Amino acid sequence: MPVDALAWIRNLRGGSQTHLIKAADGHHYVVKLSSNPQGLRTLVNEWISQRILNYLRIPCPAVEIIHLSAEFLAQSPRVGILRGQVLHPPPPGWHFGSRFPGDPNLLAVYDVLPDIQLASCRNIHHFPAILAFDKWAANADSRQSIFYRARLADVLPEEDSSSGPDLAPRGLVTSMIDHGYCFNGIYWDYPDAPGYGLYYRPEVYRRVRGGSDFEPWLERIRSFPASILDKALHELPRAWLTPRDEDELPALLDRLMARRGKVPALIEAVRHKFPHYFPNWR
Ligand SMILES: Nc1ncnc2c1ncn2[C@@H]1O[C@H](COP(=O)(O)OP(=O)(O)OP(=O)(O)O)[C@@H](O)[C@H]1O
Ligand SMILES: [Mg+2]
Repeated sequence: MPVDALAWIRNLRGGSQTHLIKAADGHHYVVKLSSNPQGLRTLVNEWISQRILNYLRIPCPAVEIIHLSAEFLAQSPRVGILRGQVLHPPPPGWHFGSRFPGDPNLLAVYDVLPDIQLASCRNIHHFPAILAFDKWAANADSRQSIFYRARLADVLPEEDSSSGPDLAPRGLVTSMIDHGYCFNGIYWDYPDAPGYGLYYRPEVYRRVRGGSDFEPWLERIRSFPASILDKALHELPRAWLTPRDEDELPALLDRLMARRGKVPALIEAVRHKFPHYFPNWR
């Protein structure tokens, strides 16, 4: 069920002109508007990608449909999309929200970190994991994530957080964001360029020694159940789909299922084109 927006906090950086908004469930959300300049389909891409990542057990923010009422918009004149000098308010209704991982007044969240801190990120192994996903979904963007300190048990999948008695209960973690350009953004195809999905710092792939470092995610992709996509499609707000999109989306997802076996070769193509990103891959 959609969650009502309560208060506008601020704008965030980025091409889709997102807004940080406090919602009625007590959480804050980075809201991508249906009228964003990257297109309505980016909301669909975000929604479906998040469902896939949950199944693959790759950390990413919780998502919700955020309801912006006409009253909220009347009280929040800074919510909108800037075109030229003019701010265009969005239509009242349902928009996409990616949950901020805490109270933005108390929790520092970073888009980028220096390598020395990246190396101490407790789930840096999720960068090879998400590369497998990005290749599968033809994410036509570079990889983006956020970093923050958290209780590890709250963020990491069980098999990671129970991996040793010396594991500190809190640490620096990353969570994968921005899936608007999966399925090649508004184009809904799979162009497979080697540079797509790569994170800008090779440091995050330093521990990769071979193809087996992309497991168990490759196996989860190989055996991925179509029912996850069916459910995501069923729960997707119909307001985010044009009649043409209603027709095209099932075929896009069928093609996604059909290309599961291609992922190892797509990763190999990345390694071939950008060997310096994988200095320890023998
Ligand atoms: N769940 C989240 N929690 C905290 N911050 C977030 C979250 N989601 C997004 N952000 C922040 O909002 C910014 C914009 O989000 P996002 O990258 O999804 O949108 P974008 O406008 O499509 O960006 P781009 O121009 O890179 O395509 C991010 O750079 C990040 O700083
Ligand atoms: Mg972005």
